[in-house]
Amino acid sequence: MDPLDMVIRYHQETKHHFFRYARALAYLDWDNQPNPFRRYQGAALSRLPILRLDEEPLSPPYDDLYHPGAVPSVPVSLRALSRLFEYALALSAWKQAGGSRWALRSNPSSGNLHPTEGYLLIGAVPDLSSSPGLYHYAPKEHGLERRADCPDELFAALMQDFPPQAFLVGLSSVYWREAWKYGERAFRYCQHDAGHAIATVRIAAATLGWSATVLHCLSDETVEDLLGLNRAGDFAGAEREHPDLVMIVWPADLARDRPAGDERVLPLCLDPALAGEMAKQRWHGKANRLSADDPVPWEIIDEVAAASRKQSSDLFGLELAPPAEPPHASGAPAGRPSAGRIIHQRRSLLACDGKTSLSAERFYAMLARVMPRLELEVMRRPMPWDALPWDPTIHLGLFVHRVDGIPPGLYMLARDPAKADVLRKAMHGQFAWAAPPECPPDLPLHLLEEGDARRLAAQVSCHQEIAGDSAFSLGMVAEFGQALRTHGPWFYRRLFWETGVIGQVLYLEAEAAGIRATGIGCFFDDPVHQVFGVKDFAFQSLYHFTVGGPVDDPRLTTLPAYGEHVEEQERGMDLP
Ligand SMILES: Cc1cc2nc3c(=O)[nH]c(=O)nc-3n(C[C@H](O)[C@H](O)[C@H](O)COP(=O)(O)O)c2cc1C
Repeated sequence: MDPLDMVIRYHQETKHHFFRYARALAYLDWDNQPNPFRRYQGAALSRLPILRLDEEPLSPPYDDLYHPGAVPSVPVSLRALSRLFEYALALSAWKQAGGSRWALRSNPSSGNLHPTEGYLLIGAVPDLSSSPGLYHYAPKEHGLERRADCPDELFAALMQDFPPQAFLVGLSSVYWREAWKYGERAFRYCQHDAGHAIATVRIAAATLGWSATVLHCLSDETVEDLLGLNRAGDFAGAEREHPDLVMIVWPADLARDRPAGDERVLPLCLDPALAGEMAKQRWHGKANRLSADDPVPWEIIDEVAAASRKQSSDLFGLELAPPAEPPHASGAPAGRPSAGRIIHQRRSLLACDGKTSLSAERFYAMLARVMPRLELEVMRRPMPWDALPWDPTIHLGLFVHRVDGIPPGLYMLARDPAKADVLRKAMHGQFAWAAPPECPPDLPLHLLEEGDARRLAAQVSCHQEIAGDSAFSLGMVAEFGQALRTHGPWFYRRLFWETGVIGQVLYLEAEAAGIRATGIGCFFDDPVHQVFGVKDFAFQSLYHFTVGGPVDDPRLTTLPAYGEHVEEQERGMDLP
């Protein structure tokens, strides 16, 4: 089958319908639940220091992450890397209810199943290693497992076109972790989770004054070469990881003093032949087995994975914007919450109170944060949109329930304002496309239709009340057909990644506003399309999200992410 047709077939077949959910096992096979923690047995583990929030490197105020130049770059060190992984992929807490305990992480995950694995390819770092190497990040231990040695010359050649002290962070997915629970729709959820992780890496980098972007041009084969995912022997008897992506991370200030003649282009590629050299190096460790039995085969996941594989390694770069000058002191009140605190406290809401409302000002400010507008003077998108080097393809169809001063109803945020007209033509003809009250003129938010959308929002979100009891919920509407035709079937995964980044920004924005959010992967696809009037594959809703006043579950207790209780557990208590 043609790969593009295959991707569309997968998308179509994994839709949830009012009368039929996407195929999955009809029960949860608890005995076979995959271990959420991968380890490479035989690879040396270096534990990263567990840092309190008041220890160096200190976290900047949350808002400063969004002011270019406000956070000075810290040098790359073991402590700084510890912070990077802490805010990106580490455990953030353990939860306990009765006899069971489960870990939460800085990055959210559909069903808390955590398919995403993290890697680091970096030069010599004092207290880690005197020579470059590839590491796998082990979240339970907050440690780095050394998977491969990388000779100085090879590392220097790989990184020669990047700013000083740059290093790579890679992500892969164990599809089986999600497929165990969600069956065929799992491939979508793994891509959402990878998107959330792109954002947690980018935002964690921003807390250190570092920049980061996806190396968009790499083929999947290059990602496999770099991360060792194609080393069949190392995965013998263990569940495989699929290549997602590699990001380049660098201290932004170090790009300030460039030598004369530096053409300021950041390549978004690596030489595939050099990446292939990794295979010839010394590798350490064998992947642990995650489930007792072999994964349940879901053929259509293998097929869509093959069809959406990125075969090409393109050759283009991004103009490297000069680092921003530090802004003038903002004069903002002291005691602004730190980014680290917001990241640590991020949780999904489990239920909404059906009461809490949001001020219009805050609502507009939150939406402004998901706008990837290009700042033309510096040709830069704001953090974290600078991590996704493609034109935005996702717009938000909003169900507004409780925003003070704004009529409840359906709204549309055109994240690329140039697309508002195409959206309008594709949607119901009777929609008003009016400017909401007091809406900032540069925010392309449109009121489509006033009305009480609470029941509708919950209904189309698989009857989940959190979508109607919130302040607002939304569907992330992708320019589906056009994006796939322009770029190719591999772009299917990018569409989901972009939705994950939007979700992560909203998660943190909700915490900063004193409320809470939740990603919603379970929704009835075509009924959502009917709500907005989109009829064919031109636009498809890929991910839902809700933001509101949380109601906590008093039966749950919270334990620290790292501490004695984890060691106790390792010595004998049941692991989730
Ligand atoms: C892609 C994605 C889809 C999700 N879908 C749902 C959903 O449909 N319903 C729900 O209640 N929670 C959903 N969640 C929330 C997860 O259950 C939650 O992230 C996970 O349990 C971890 O908890 P935490 O976010 O508090 O760390 C989703 C999260 C993600 C990232």
